[in-house]
Amino acid sequence: MNTAQFIPSALNFSIEKATYTWQTPSNIALIKYWGKSKPQIPKNASISFTLNNCHTITSIDFSKKSNTSEIIFELFFEGEKKEAFKPKIAQFFDRIKEYCPYIFEYDMVIDSMNSFPHSSGIASSASGLSAIAMCLMSLEKELNPNLTEKFIHQKASFLARLGSGSASRSIEGPLVVWGEHPAIEGSSDLFGVKFPYAIHPIFENYQDAILLVDKGEKQVSSTVGHNLMHMHPYADQRFIQANENLSKISEILQRGDIDAFINIVESEALTLHAMMLTSNPYFILMKPNTLEIIHKIWKFREETGSKICFTLDAGANVHVLYPEQEKENINNFIVKMLSNYCQKKQYIFDNSGFGAKKL
Ligand code: PMV
Repeated sequence: MNTAQFIPSALNFSIEKATYTWQTPSNIALIKYWGKSKPQIPKNASISFTLNNCHTITSIDFSKKSNTSEIIFELFFEGEKKEAFKPKIAQFFDRIKEYCPYIFEYDMVIDSMNSFPHSSGIASSASGLSAIAMCLMSLEKELNPNLTEKFIHQKASFLARLGSGSASRSIEGPLVVWGEHPAIEGSSDLFGVKFPYAIHPIFENYQDAILLVDKGEKQVSSTVGHNLMHMHPYADQRFIQANENLSKISEILQRGDIDAFINIVESEALTLHAMMLTSNPYFILMKPNTLEIIHKIWKFREETGSKICFTLDAGANVHVLYPEQEKENINNFIVKMLSNYCQKKQYIFDNSGFGAKKL
């Protein structure tokens, strides 16, 4: 693994001031990443749909400073100074400083906002950290104009990964693989890569409705969750299974076998939760309404022949996945039926998207 390629050599620090703004999305994993070794190396490869509507918009103002011994930044979230979020970002900067030495040269003012409600149970680390990574890469490009777009995407994903593994999958879209895998050409443990093969039209503009079942703080932080896999009795088998599932889903996405897609995606969601149920300490992250929704989806599928299915993150919310051609029908089903099981009837209609956008 060649991390040295991400350490910049020739930088021209003539720039005194600059501001960049990026919009980057959240993503939803189909094959889940759960378990890692240091530094943020996944135990298995994962694949996700990049989302479109659930995103973070972040601006960073860079102003050249004279004292270059420390990393100095201020953080605003939705217009307000947010001291509480600073330690996580400080830790992120500390992890990437070797690769972005220019962060010592500038005072940084970070201003961020999410398109989705804060504390909605939708992880904002993927969109948040990928947005910061893209702003840093815009500065790096100005300090070294020779950088190619491919390198910028790769390094942004590499940097985002060091903050939060799944953030590596939020730079490009609509499908991104992170983790070295023999079936995916160019795949790497260091950064996410766009799924390199043509997908069947049924999987284009795939729909994801996020049902907000429980908007509370995460019951298990990602750090604690990933660590539980170190002592887990079924961990090794799980990592093998995930990699096998990735080989299968790669074929399925190309062939358009939607029944096989549904089977793998739902099994992956339940397996992620099974890992938490069977770890020690153990956690139940689903709520009664998570199960109600799953049963309603299964019933609807059985009764109508719909290709609706679900996946889950490490929480109680349900992601409902379906092809674009069923949008009208299933959106109706969500509004009329499934929304009754959501907190304050809240849900977000989203679909697969194309990744980071410069604003
Ligand atoms: O990126 P992290 O460390 O927050 O881990 C996220 C893991 C899951 O969201 C549960 C699964 C995944 O692959 O996104």
